[in-house]
Amino acid sequence: MVVPHVTDTSGPTRLMRREVAARRQEANNGADGVRLRHAVSVTRRTADPLADLEGKVAGAESGGLDRLRLVEVPFVPEVRLHLAEDAIVWWARMEAEAGTVLPPPYWASAWPGGQALARYVLDNPDVVTGRRVLDLASGSGLAAIAAGLAGAATVAANDIDPYALAVIGMNARANDIQVRQAGGDLLDGDGAGVDLVLAGDVFYRRGLAQRMLPFLERAAARGARVLVGDPGRAYLPADRFQVLASYEGSVSDEVPNAEISRMDVLQLRLRD
Ligand SMILES: C[S@@+](CC[C@H](N)C(=O)[O-])C[C@H]1O[C@@H](n2cnc3c(N)ncnc32)[C@H](O)[C@@H]1O
Repeated sequence: MVVPHVTDTSGPTRLMRREVAARRQEANNGADGVRLRHAVSVTRRTADPLADLEGKVAGAESGGLDRLRLVEVPFVPEVRLHLAEDAIVWWARMEAEAGTVLPPPYWASAWPGGQALARYVLDNPDVVTGRRVLDLASGSGLAAIAAGLAGAATVAANDIDPYALAVIGMNARANDIQVRQAGGDLLDGDGAGVDLVLAGDVFYRRGLAQRMLPFLERAAARGARVLVGDPGRAYLPADRFQVLASYEGSVSDEVPNAEISRMDVLQLRLRD
Protein backbone atom coordinates (compact mmCIF):
# COMPACT_ATOMS: atom_id res chain seq x y z
CA MET A 1 0.00 0.00 0.00
CA VAL A 2 1.28 3.46 -0.85
CA VAL A 3 0.37 6.28 1.46
CA PRO A 4 1.01 10.01 1.19
CA HIS A 5 4.54 11.33 1.52
CA VAL A 6 5.69 11.73 5.11
CA THR A 7 6.45 15.37 5.52
CA ASP A 8 8.24 15.31 8.84
CA THR A 9 9.15 12.31 10.90
CA SER A 10 12.79 13.30 11.10
CA GLY A 11 12.58 14.26 14.77
CA PRO A 12 13.10 10.80 16.25
CA THR A 13 16.16 10.05 14.15
CA ARG A 14 17.73 13.36 15.09
CA LEU A 15 16.75 12.76 18.71
CA MET A 16 18.48 9.40 18.68
CA ARG A 17 21.66 10.93 17.29
CA ARG A 18 21.59 13.71 19.86
CA GLU A 19 21.04 11.22 22.66
CA VAL A 20 24.06 9.20 21.58
CA ALA A 21 26.18 12.36 21.27
CA ALA A 22 25.08 13.61 24.70
CA ARG A 23 25.87 10.27 26.33
CA ARG A 24 29.31 10.20 24.75
CA GLN A 25 29.96 13.73 25.95
CA GLU A 26 28.90 12.86 29.49
CA ALA A 27 31.06 9.75 29.48
CA ASN A 28 34.05 11.82 28.35
CA ASN A 29 33.47 14.70 30.73
CA GLY A 30 32.36 12.94 33.88
CA ALA A 31 30.00 14.60 36.36
CA ASP A 32 31.83 17.95 36.28
CA GLY A 33 31.32 18.20 32.57
CA VAL A 34 27.60 17.64 33.00
CA ARG A 35 27.40 20.38 35.62
CA LEU A 36 29.30 22.79 33.39
CA ARG A 37 27.04 22.09 30.49
CA HIS A 38 24.07 23.27 32.52
CA ALA A 39 25.75 26.00 34.49
CA VAL A 40 23.23 28.53 33.18
CA SER A 41 19.85 27.36 34.40
CA VAL A 42 16.81 29.51 33.73
CA THR A 43 13.86 28.38 35.80
CA ARG A 44 13.06 25.16 37.62
CA ARG A 45 10.45 22.89 36.06
CA THR A 46 7.27 22.41 37.96
CA ALA A 47 6.81 19.12 39.81
CA ASP A 48 3.67 18.47 37.75
CA PRO A 49 4.51 17.42 34.17
CA LEU A 50 0.95 18.04 33.00
CA ALA A 51 0.85 21.63 34.22
CA ASP A 52 4.34 22.11 32.85
CA LEU A 53 3.37 20.93 29.36
CA GLU A 54 -0.01 22.64 29.26
CA GLY A 55 1.75 25.91 29.94
CA LYS A 56 3.99 25.47 26.92
CA VAL A 57 1.53 24.65 24.16
CA ALA A 58 1.74 27.40 21.58
CA GLY A 59 -1.17 28.95 19.76
CA ALA A 60 -1.21 29.15 15.98
CA GLU A 61 -0.07 32.76 16.07
CA SER A 62 3.10 32.28 18.12
CA GLY A 63 6.44 31.52 16.52
CA GLY A 64 9.65 29.81 17.66
CA LEU A 65 11.01 26.28 17.49
CA ASP A 66 10.92 25.61 21.25
CA ARG A 67 7.19 24.98 21.27
CA LEU A 68 4.63 22.21 21.35
CA ARG A 69 1.78 22.49 18.87
CA LEU A 70 -1.43 20.57 18.39
CA VAL A 71 -1.04 19.26 14.82
CA GLU A 72 -2.34 16.53 12.51
CA VAL A 73 -0.08 13.49 12.23
CA PRO A 74 1.24 13.22 8.63
CA PHE A 75 0.30 9.56 7.99
CA VAL A 76 -2.68 9.67 10.32
CA PRO A 77 -4.51 12.96 9.86
CA GLU A 78 -7.47 11.56 11.83
CA VAL A 79 -5.33 12.07 14.94
CA ARG A 80 -4.02 15.36 16.31
CA LEU A 81 -1.10 15.39 18.74
CA HIS A 82 0.85 17.91 20.75
CA LEU A 83 4.22 17.61 18.99
CA ALA A 84 7.39 19.65 19.20
CA GLU A 85 8.02 22.11 16.43
CA ASP A 86 11.63 20.89 16.60
CA ALA A 87 12.26 18.08 19.08
CA ILE A 88 15.94 18.91 19.57
CA VAL A 89 15.25 22.57 20.33
CA TRP A 90 12.37 21.53 22.59
CA TRP A 91 14.65 19.13 24.46
CA ALA A 92 17.22 21.89 24.93
CA ARG A 93 14.50 24.15 26.36
CA MET A 94 13.33 21.44 28.78
CA GLU A 95 16.88 20.83 29.98
CA ALA A 96 17.63 24.55 30.33
CA GLU A 97 14.51 25.04 32.42
CA ALA A 98 15.21 21.97 34.53
CA GLY A 99 18.85 22.87 34.96
CA THR A 100 19.78 19.23 34.47
CA VAL A 101 20.18 16.50 31.90
CA LEU A 102 16.84 14.96 30.90
CA PRO A 103 15.97 11.90 28.84
CA PRO A 104 15.00 12.64 25.24
CA PRO A 105 11.37 13.78 24.85
CA TYR A 106 10.50 10.93 22.51
CA TRP A 107 6.84 11.66 23.17
CA ALA A 108 7.20 15.01 21.36
CA SER A 109 7.48 13.29 17.96
CA ALA A 110 5.25 10.82 16.11
CA TRP A 111 7.66 8.02 15.29
CA PRO A 112 7.39 6.21 11.96
CA GLY A 113 6.62 2.86 13.65
CA GLY A 114 3.80 4.40 15.68
CA GLN A 115 2.41 6.14 12.60
CA ALA A 116 2.36 2.85 10.69
CA LEU A 117 0.57 1.06 13.55
CA ALA A 118 -1.97 3.83 13.93
CA ARG A 119 -2.64 3.83 10.17
CA TYR A 120 -3.10 0.06 10.25
CA VAL A 121 -5.61 -0.06 13.09
CA LEU A 122 -7.64 2.78 11.61
CA ASP A 123 -7.73 1.05 8.21
CA ASN A 124 -8.46 -2.36 9.77
CA PRO A 125 -10.77 -1.58 12.69
CA ASP A 126 -11.75 -5.25 13.10
CA VAL A 127 -8.26 -5.76 14.59
CA VAL A 128 -9.19 -3.63 17.60
CA THR A 129 -13.00 -3.49 17.76
CA GLY A 130 -14.16 -4.69 21.16
CA ARG A 131 -10.60 -5.56 22.23
CA ARG A 132 -8.74 -4.47 25.36
CA VAL A 133 -5.66 -2.78 23.97
CA LEU A 134 -2.28 -1.90 25.47
CA ASP A 135 -0.06 0.56 23.60
CA LEU A 136 3.36 -0.25 25.00
CA ALA A 137 6.10 2.42 25.01
CA SER A 138 3.37 4.72 23.80
CA GLY A 139 5.28 8.03 23.61
CA SER A 140 2.70 10.54 22.42
CA GLY A 141 -0.12 7.99 22.71
CA LEU A 142 -0.60 7.86 18.94
CA ALA A 143 -1.34 4.14 18.52
CA ALA A 144 -3.50 4.14 21.67
CA ILE A 145 -5.61 7.01 20.36
CA ALA A 146 -5.94 5.35 16.95
CA ALA A 147 -7.10 2.15 18.68
CA GLY A 148 -9.70 4.14 20.62
CA LEU A 149 -10.92 5.84 17.43
CA ALA A 150 -11.14 2.42 15.73
CA GLY A 151 -13.44 1.02 18.41
CA ALA A 152 -11.32 -0.68 21.07
CA ALA A 153 -13.25 -1.65 24.23
CA THR A 154 -10.56 -0.19 26.49
CA VAL A 155 -7.19 1.40 25.79
CA ALA A 156 -4.19 1.69 28.09
CA ALA A 157 -1.03 3.55 27.13
CA ASN A 158 2.18 2.67 28.95
CA ASP A 159 5.42 4.61 29.09
CA ILE A 160 8.20 5.00 31.65
CA ASP A 161 8.52 8.75 31.02
CA PRO A 162 6.17 10.83 33.23
CA TYR A 163 6.12 13.55 30.58
CA ALA A 164 4.89 10.99 28.04
CA LEU A 165 2.06 10.05 30.42
CA ALA A 166 1.10 13.70 30.82
CA VAL A 167 1.10 14.37 27.09
CA ILE A 168 -0.85 11.14 26.43
CA GLY A 169 -3.61 12.57 28.64
CA MET A 170 -3.55 15.87 26.75
CA ASN A 171 -3.54 14.09 23.39
CA ALA A 172 -6.36 11.73 24.36
CA ARG A 173 -8.50 14.71 25.38
CA ALA A 174 -7.66 16.55 22.15
CA ASN A 175 -9.04 13.57 20.22
CA ASP A 176 -11.97 12.95 22.56
CA ILE A 177 -10.78 9.43 23.39
CA GLN A 178 -10.52 7.68 26.76
CA VAL A 179 -7.03 6.33 27.36
CA ARG A 180 -5.82 4.96 30.69
CA GLN A 181 -2.31 6.23 31.38
CA ALA A 182 -0.20 3.38 32.76
CA GLY A 183 3.16 4.39 34.15
CA GLY A 184 6.12 2.26 35.12
CA ASP A 185 8.03 -0.54 33.49
CA LEU A 186 5.81 -3.46 32.49
CA LEU A 187 8.43 -5.40 30.57
CA ASP A 188 8.96 -8.11 33.18
CA GLY A 189 5.29 -9.11 32.92
CA ASP A 190 3.11 -10.48 30.12
CA GLY A 191 0.58 -7.67 29.60
CA ALA A 192 -2.05 -9.54 31.61
CA GLY A 193 -5.60 -8.33 31.05
CA VAL A 194 -5.27 -7.13 27.47
CA ASP A 195 -6.15 -8.87 24.20
CA LEU A 196 -3.97 -6.82 21.88
CA VAL A 197 -0.53 -5.33 22.45
CA LEU A 198 0.64 -2.55 20.14
CA ALA A 199 4.29 -1.50 20.16
CA GLY A 200 5.43 1.27 17.82
CA ASP A 201 9.12 1.83 17.13
CA VAL A 202 10.50 -0.07 20.11
CA PHE A 203 13.50 -1.77 18.48
CA TYR A 204 15.74 1.30 18.22
CA ARG A 205 18.04 0.43 21.14
CA ARG A 206 19.70 -2.89 21.93
CA GLY A 207 18.92 -2.99 25.66
CA LEU A 208 15.25 -2.17 25.16
CA ALA A 209 14.95 -4.64 22.29
CA GLN A 210 16.45 -7.40 24.44
CA ARG A 211 13.71 -6.94 27.01
CA MET A 212 10.94 -6.12 24.56
CA LEU A 213 10.97 -9.38 22.61
CA PRO A 214 10.58 -11.66 25.69
CA PHE A 215 7.73 -9.46 26.93
CA LEU A 216 5.95 -9.64 23.59
CA GLU A 217 6.52 -13.40 23.44
CA ARG A 218 5.02 -13.89 26.91
CA ALA A 219 2.00 -11.79 25.93
CA ALA A 220 1.54 -13.85 22.74
CA ALA A 221 2.01 -17.13 24.63
CA ARG A 222 -0.90 -16.32 26.95
CA GLY A 223 -3.12 -15.54 23.94
CA ALA A 224 -2.75 -11.83 23.21
CA ARG A 225 -2.25 -10.63 19.65
CA VAL A 226 0.98 -8.64 19.29
CA LEU A 227 1.48 -6.03 16.58
CA VAL A 228 4.62 -3.97 16.08
CA GLY A 229 5.22 -0.94 13.86
CA ASP A 230 8.79 -0.61 12.63
CA PRO A 231 10.72 1.27 9.94
CA GLY A 232 13.65 -1.16 9.78
CA ARG A 233 15.31 -0.40 13.10
CA ALA A 234 18.62 -2.08 13.83
CA TYR A 235 17.43 -4.34 16.66
CA LEU A 236 14.17 -5.65 15.18
CA PRO A 237 14.32 -9.49 15.27
CA ALA A 238 12.68 -9.68 11.84
CA ASP A 239 12.67 -13.49 11.74
CA ARG A 240 10.22 -13.54 14.67
CA PHE A 241 7.62 -11.47 12.80
CA GLN A 242 5.30 -11.73 9.85
CA VAL A 243 4.69 -8.55 7.81
CA LEU A 244 1.00 -7.60 7.70
CA ALA A 245 1.30 -4.28 5.87
CA SER A 246 4.00 -2.06 4.40
CA TYR A 247 3.68 1.66 3.92
CA GLU A 248 5.95 3.55 1.60
CA GLY A 249 7.07 7.09 2.19
CA SER A 250 10.23 9.00 2.70
CA VAL A 251 11.51 10.74 5.76
CA SER A 252 13.75 13.69 5.18
CA ASP A 253 16.77 13.84 7.43
CA GLU A 254 20.07 15.70 7.48
CA VAL A 255 21.96 12.47 6.98
CA PRO A 256 21.00 11.30 3.47
CA ASN A 257 21.58 7.60 4.07
CA ALA A 258 19.52 7.69 7.27
CA GLU A 259 16.41 8.13 5.17
CA ILE A 260 13.46 5.94 6.03
CA SER A 261 11.44 4.85 3.03
CA ARG A 262 9.30 1.99 4.38
CA MET A 263 7.35 1.32 7.54
CA ASP A 264 6.02 -2.13 8.32
CA VAL A 265 3.31 -3.43 10.60
CA LEU A 266 4.32 -6.84 11.84
CA GLN A 267 2.68 -9.59 13.85
CA LEU A 268 4.71 -11.69 16.26
CA ARG A 269 4.85 -15.34 15.17
CA LEU A 270 3.89 -17.90 17.78
CA ARG A 271 6.68 -20.27 18.72
CA ASP A 272 6.13 -23.94 17.81
C1 LIG B 1 10.83 5.63 19.95
S1 LIG B 1 9.65 6.08 21.11
C2 LIG B 1 8.18 5.43 20.36
C3 LIG B 1 6.94 6.13 20.84
C4 LIG B 1 5.65 5.69 20.16
N1 LIG B 1 5.39 4.29 20.32
C5 LIG B 1 5.65 6.08 18.71
O1 LIG B 1 5.79 5.19 17.85
O2 LIG B 1 5.50 7.29 18.40
C6 LIG B 1 10.00 4.91 22.38
C7 LIG B 1 9.25 5.12 23.67
O3 LIG B 1 9.57 4.03 24.52
C8 LIG B 1 9.55 4.50 25.84
N2 LIG B 1 10.23 3.48 26.66
C9 LIG B 1 11.54 3.21 26.75
N3 LIG B 1 11.74 2.18 27.59
C10 LIG B 1 10.53 1.79 28.03
C11 LIG B 1 10.06 0.77 28.91
N4 LIG B 1 10.90 -0.06 29.52
N5 LIG B 1 8.74 0.66 29.15
C12 LIG B 1 7.86 1.50 28.54
N6 LIG B 1 8.24 2.49 27.69
C13 LIG B 1 9.55 2.62 27.43
C14 LIG B 1 10.23 5.84 25.74
O4 LIG B 1 9.97 6.64 26.88
C15 LIG B 1 9.62 6.36 24.45
O5 LIG B 1 8.45 7.11 24.70
